[in-house]
Amino acid sequence: MAWQYQIRTRICNTNKLRTILITGCAGFIGYNLALSILSGNSKYKLIGIDNLNNLTGLKIKRDRLKNLIKFKNFSYYKISITDFKKFEEIFKNFNISIVINFAALAGVRNSNIFPKKYFDSNVNGFYNAIFLAKKYKVKKFIYASSSSVYGDVAVFPTHEKISITTQKSFYAMTKNINEILSTYISSETKMKIIGLRFFTVYGEYGRPDMFLKNIVSAIIEKKTFNIYAFGKHERDFTYIGDVVKILNYILFKKSKSLKNSLIYNIGSGRKIQLMDLINIIEDNLSMKGKFKFIKRQKGDVLKTHSNNNLIQKDYKKINFTDIKKGIKNYVKWHKNYYY
Ligand SMILES: NC(=O)c1ccc[n+]([C@@H]2O[C@H](COP(=O)([O-])OP(=O)(O)OC[C@H]3O[C@@H](n4cnc5c(N)ncnc54)[C@H](O)[C@@H]3O)[C@@H](O)[C@H]2O)c1
Repeated sequence: MAWQYQIRTRICNTNKLRTILITGCAGFIGYNLALSILSGNSKYKLIGIDNLNNLTGLKIKRDRLKNLIKFKNFSYYKISITDFKKFEEIFKNFNISIVINFAALAGVRNSNIFPKKYFDSNVNGFYNAIFLAKKYKVKKFIYASSSSVYGDVAVFPTHEKISITTQKSFYAMTKNINEILSTYISSETKMKIIGLRFFTVYGEYGRPDMFLKNIVSAIIEKKTFNIYAFGKHERDFTYIGDVVKILNYILFKKSKSLKNSLIYNIGSGRKIQLMDLINIIEDNLSMKGKFKFIKRQKGDVLKTHSNNNLIQKDYKKINFTDIKKGIKNYVKWHKNYYY
């Protein structure tokens, strides 16, 4: 079936609502944020763009979009942020006040296999997004970085001021370039620029290429699942509901520390070892998994654990969702969506 929501190149803007642009709107985090804005804040018109690539699941991206296009103040355009001309049409035709750039090729392991593709979307595409936002005098530019920029740092919980030296994956390197470019551009513009280092976000409508989806499916389907780093990985898992709440603060409230540009850790501040997480999943499914323990893969970071004091100081104390509750919500959604 030909995809029905094709780009319209001539768009007439008669709408007086303030406009937010989300790139990567069909993706996991972009979708959940878009849904919360559309459900809660009718003062804004939302433009979503996404190229619907297959790397992080095409069916789920279409399903997410189907939910978004039900809202009358949402418009979707199938554009790649690497296509400067088509991307600029959006800025010419809408009076965009906030840009949220979440479009990127996500995932560490694939980035070492397809570095050129990652460079195009994550670096060239990112440049187009921030350049156009500056050119069209957008007020706020929010973008996704990643906890992976920290590599194998030795300081836990890791705070934003720690110096970042070498990257463990091509993906992390692209995100590090975004941060450097943003800091540079912030000296040339009044636009407020906010980078977000996400720590393993999970939850409903999560990415099908991520650990959580794959392990839950493997246990349900009684398949053997490979556990890397012999199960010693530790991760700061951050529930999507909390991420969306924080993103709403960043979008609509004033930050105490923000002058020109700023980077926040977006993490729960709690770490969990993989085998403990697997126990929680097994309890929720009332099933035991079959595992093969193997060594750490190239590019994988052994441990992540965020210090989230800065975001809580600047906005509000956040009661992060307990992992047991978050996993319960996820497993319920997973069974309903996939089976
Ligand atoms: N999910 C996490 O745990 C996590 C952790 C760290 C960083 N991030 C970053 O957060 C952002 C959102 O992540 P996500 O988990 O929602 O990933 P996702 O893959 O679900 O969403 C990204 C979306 O961007 C789109 N996209 C990719 N390249 C594009 C291009 N050139 N033009 C237009 N659209 C394009 C994809 O089709 C996808 O729908 C990404 O930048 C990712 O790198 C996510």
